[in-house]
Amino acid sequence: MSGIERRKLHHIRVSLDKNVETDITTGFEDIRLIHRALPEIDLDEVSSEVTFFGKRLQAPLIISAITGGTEEAFKINEVLAEVAEDKQIGLGVGSQRIAISQPETIPTFNIVREKAPTTFIMGNLGCPQLSLGWGVTEAKKCIEMIEADALAVHMNPLQEAVQVDGDTNYSGIYKKISELSQQIETPLIMKETGAGIAWEDAVMMEKSGASGIEISGVGGTSWSAVEYHIAKEVGEKNMEYLGNALWNWGIPTAISVVEVSNKTDLSIIASGGIRTGVEIVKSISLGADLGGMARPFLEKAVQGKEALAEFIDNIIKEIQVTMFLVGAKNIGDLKKIPVLIMGKTAEWLKLRGFDHNEYARRNIE
Ligand SMILES: Cc1cc2nc3c(=O)[nH]c(=O)nc-3n(C[C@H](O)[C@H](O)[C@H](O)COP(=O)(O)O)c2cc1C
Repeated sequence: MSGIERRKLHHIRVSLDKNVETDITTGFEDIRLIHRALPEIDLDEVSSEVTFFGKRLQAPLIISAITGGTEEAFKINEVLAEVAEDKQIGLGVGSQRIAISQPETIPTFNIVREKAPTTFIMGNLGCPQLSLGWGVTEAKKCIEMIEADALAVHMNPLQEAVQVDGDTNYSGIYKKISELSQQIETPLIMKETGAGIAWEDAVMMEKSGASGIEISGVGGTSWSAVEYHIAKEVGEKNMEYLGNALWNWGIPTAISVVEVSNKTDLSIIASGGIRTGVEIVKSISLGADLGGMARPFLEKAVQGKEALAEFIDNIIKEIQVTMFLVGAKNIGDLKKIPVLIMGKTAEWLKLRGFDHNEYARRNIE
């Protein structure tokens, strides 16, 4: 087994068996939706459908990048893809770096397109690989491998910095992304992995030609925590210290969604600690286009197809009922409802120059 395969296994096992959640929250508890006693719509008419980069989805929901590259990953991706296709929701694969350097692992990724021939599928490549010299050729291979509808370029400076032998050279990435976006027709989605995205970086990403952003802010899976557990197991004391010290580092998801949606026209996937349909509705009312989750879907996928399908049905129903209760017949309506931004989230946004009261002043129809 190669070093990367071993790491992949570690990531899945640690994410499932250990505490890897941040101690600080996403900020969604500070986001309040207004209940409508007279929604003046029929719940049966509420549509959570949405089109994302040309693909029609039953709900604004995506399984965020999780895995690929190992036998276990093959099984997980097969379950995720079958259910994503059946429910018509989006699906992101884990980093395809391993498939480029070890082509024998390609089937663990292309099983996804085989089992999900029509729904939105997102490829995945990391910034560290771009800074080590990968570029258009490798990105095209990732896209073709799974006939991806979009390619996520993941940004994980925190994870690399707290990881034993991490790739920490993040210089020159802007130029690389600009090259990729000029030479590749498939949309690029810049994706964090649990530390969120500030508007300043989002604006750079938009200028570089990226089409979207996946927020993955603080409040859910902490990669610092994952690497802390791994460092502890292998006796790497310095990295164990760092992983623990930076466990909660980053920008909470709800804040990041507001920052990015205010300062760019990019498509936005809200993720990082999203655990409920209500939180997805909140994300969309703040300006996101889809909501994503990783670890909750992983937990269900290892239990099997039925468990995953039931979980997704529940989340979609929860989204639709919440839409009903705020009087939104469709996703377009949802982007216009009044929203209260309170507490620490409001304070943070105010200090960053955003007028959180604008959301509260939206007209209730
Ligand atoms: C086991 C596991 C593996 C992951 N692998 C990747 C990856 O290869 N590429 C990536 O962009 N994100 C990866 N992520 C990050 C997720 O896509 C997501 O951004 C992060 O876990 C926060 O979402 P959550 O709180 O819903 O888990 C992984 C997450 C988990 C739990």
